[in-house]
Amino acid sequence: MSLRVVAVSGSLRSPSTTAALIDGILDELSPHVDIVREIVDLHPIAGDLAAALTGGGKTDAVTAALDAIAGADLLVVATPIYRGSYTGLFKEFFDLVPQDALAGTPVLLAAGGGDDQHSLAIDHQLRPLFAFFRAVSLPVGVYARTADFTDRRISGEALPAAIARAVAAALPALPRVSVP
Ligand SMILES: Cc1cc2nc3c(=O)[nH]c(=O)nc-3n(C[C@H](O)[C@H](O)[C@H](O)COP(=O)(O)O)c2cc1C
Repeated sequence: MSLRVVAVSGSLRSPSTTAALIDGILDELSPHVDIVREIVDLHPIAGDLAAALTGGGKTDAVTAALDAIAGADLLVVATPIYRGSYTGLFKEFFDLVPQDALAGTPVLLAAGGGDDQHSLAIDHQLRPLFAFFRAVSLPVGVYARTADFTDRRISGEALPAAIARAVAAALPALPRVSVP
């Protein structure tokens, strides 16, 4: 049986380095684990999320996104760092997630910033948010810098190595999976 991996992008644009970071993580995961991947890109539903948070009700797209993460065997979350933290768009989405929906779900934390200045945002911003949900944040996150991309594609060796370290650390925690 395949592992259902759902990845959430908190980027405010498409295409984005955040999407490339997610692809890099899923591509690293796939030789180790039989996965079915689903991407929840928040940028196209930004208006729907704002409407849902201000009493406008949930559109089908918002409901589908919420259902997707609730049914994930593994959640990969990736966000640009804005002002030292996840984007407002990312937080808007998770403000709509029921507080028990992610209990026990493994979550691989990933973020991208202009440089290294806010690399600890993974541990100081993302990790507490998923602790609120009683999700199981995986031990090693992935932090990317703008310099790790060329034309919004991963370039160089540093980011692939960081992704490989995070995936190797994640494998023992995944359901029905053991380290090869
Ligand atoms: C409003 C805004 C705030 C930002 N704040 C930070 C920051 O605090 N720290 C940082 O390292 N990069 C910061 N950046 C740079 C973004 O994190 C970086 O460009 C982003 O990872 C690109 O992701 P994307 O391609 O998905 O948009 C900021 C960018 C914007 C537009």
